[in-house]
Amino acid sequence: MPDITFIHPDGRSDRVESSDGESAMQAATRHGLDGILAECGGNAMCATCHVYVDESWLPRLPAIADDEDALLDGTAAERRPNSRLSCQITITSELDGLVLRLPKRQI
Ligand code: FES
Repeated sequence: MPDITFIHPDGRSDRVESSDGESAMQAATRHGLDGILAECGGNAMCATCHVYVDESWLPRLPAIADDEDALLDGTAAERRPNSRLSCQITITSELDGLVLRLPKRQI
């Protein structure tokens, strides 16, 4: 099972186990991780699942779709070049060890 490490703004980290095919957001919320709100339940409508992808992992993620790109312009915390919506990151075994940093706020 692929592991994802979420790093909080204060430096704490949480390593969660995910399943092939679920989103990074689903793995986070299933483990009760604070810092991911996911108000729309993963429908790419809220931008409260914003994460900063560790730079070393960026090339391994699929390209940003137009709807994700548009939503990322409305995140509560600043958008950066490595910003993604965690509900749009589908976990596969190739992403085992993925590192995602949480923004200071989601709303
Ligand atoms: Fe709403 Fe990701 S959970 S956009």
